[in-house]
Amino acid sequence: MKNVFNNVIESIGNTPIIKLNSIAPHSPHTFWAKIEYFNPGGSVKDRIAVAIIEEAEKRGELAPGSTIIEATSGNTGLGLAMVAAVRGYKTIFVMPDKISEEKRAILRGYGAKVVITPTAVEPEDPRSYLSVAKKLVEITPKAFYANQYHNPDNPTRHYRTTGPEIWGQIGEKLDVFVAGAGTGGTISGVGRYLKEKRKDIKIVLADPYGSILHDWLYHKKVLSPPHSYKVEGVGEDMLPDNVHFDVMDDAVQVDDKSSFLMTRELVSKEGICVGPSSAMALVAAIEYSKKLTKPSNILVLFPDNGRAYLSKAFNDSWMRENGFLPSPLKMRKVQDLLQSRKSHHSLITADVGETVLQVVNKMKSAGISQLPVYSNGTVVGILDEGDLLEPLVKGTLKPMEPIIHLVKGSVVFVKPEEDLSSLNEQLMKGYIALVGEDKKLEIITKIDLLQFLGAMTELSN
Ligand SMILES: Cc1ncc(COP(=O)(O)O)c(C=O)c1O
Repeated sequence: MKNVFNNVIESIGNTPIIKLNSIAPHSPHTFWAKIEYFNPGGSVKDRIAVAIIEEAEKRGELAPGSTIIEATSGNTGLGLAMVAAVRGYKTIFVMPDKISEEKRAILRGYGAKVVITPTAVEPEDPRSYLSVAKKLVEITPKAFYANQYHNPDNPTRHYRTTGPEIWGQIGEKLDVFVAGAGTGGTISGVGRYLKEKRKDIKIVLADPYGSILHDWLYHKKVLSPPHSYKVEGVGEDMLPDNVHFDVMDDAVQVDDKSSFLMTRELVSKEGICVGPSSAMALVAAIEYSKKLTKPSNILVLFPDNGRAYLSKAFNDSWMRENGFLPSPLKMRKVQDLLQSRKSHHSLITADVGETVLQVVNKMKSAGISQLPVYSNGTVVGILDEGDLLEPLVKGTLKPMEPIIHLVKGSVVFVKPEEDLSSLNEQLMKGYIALVGEDKKLEIITKIDLLQFLGAMTELSN
């Protein structure tokens, strides 16, 4: 009976390949995606989770009452927790603190113990998630270390399942296969199988900046020291045994911003909600395709679901905090602010020759607290009610005296097409902003910007 399974484990695999129609509209190439979030645990890692457990059971390394321990960026943990739930094993997972809250919560939901460790430490540091996992294996009775980075059952499962699936689905017309690498199991297993089928299929590694894998493929050494990055699950600061560089033809490095923005584009243009490591691989595939000489079929592996990144890729504040989205100020122009208040008021000005009393009356009748001051038709500064009140109260100024000595020079001219962040910078320096000229001159104050942002937030909520 098709699609009827005796348990959730049997439903792993046979994931679809979907054509991408809008993400690279001008490209002569056709992009396809292997969507691994159709696996029951939501990622490609379900495949290796069942493989690692089944092979360990065959070798007698796992028995009832055992505890499976793994260092994971979440997805392997989820796959192992799912299989362990069916097989009756306990699980403990060690994860770097950059991993999203959603992934931690779902693992706890599967009954796993979750240990969080610092991300930005060397792999051999005793605090790293790899070292802590190894330590836990030493001190936990009947522990089994899944060891996905070096366990050969990982790439072997992809060689035996994912590779043949892809070949059966698109093999004959496939020209390029692109995937990221964390353990390397996916690209190594699939790459080896596809190369055995057709040597001319190109296997391309997508690698985040900060990982050592790209350099290692080309130079067999680390050129730029590894640094942390936001994309989860891919890239490395050490060399897993399961990264088989011999099957790879090329590598493309991708920055975090491109990966996170593509994550959103895939949803809005293709309706496909996947994680940033999938988007990273697609960015790499599009980049790589630029050097192809004939129209080609390019398959990209999408490892997991975007729902595990709602608090990141799909969270505007997080995206802005990380510089992946422009601040709302950058996205709006001075003219937007002016348009938003067109109905409010036209500008009242004063001349340096006017008296204090005249200006006070002007402010009172117009209900304003500041105005620009002209001298011979040119704006020479600004005057606000505070500048008038203080000397009047102290008696250092008489109402019939001219305002010329009170005028503050802190005005700055801004252009209507300037974005609000540069306006904000000027206002923060204490300047009053003027925009336009002559009778069309307008004054913009911090209050105006505040009101505009307030209205914007209201609109976006
Ligand atoms: C989100 C995500 N993408 C990609 C990968 C890389 O897969 P592999 O470990 O097979 O190289 C992982 C691995 O954990 C992952 O979690």
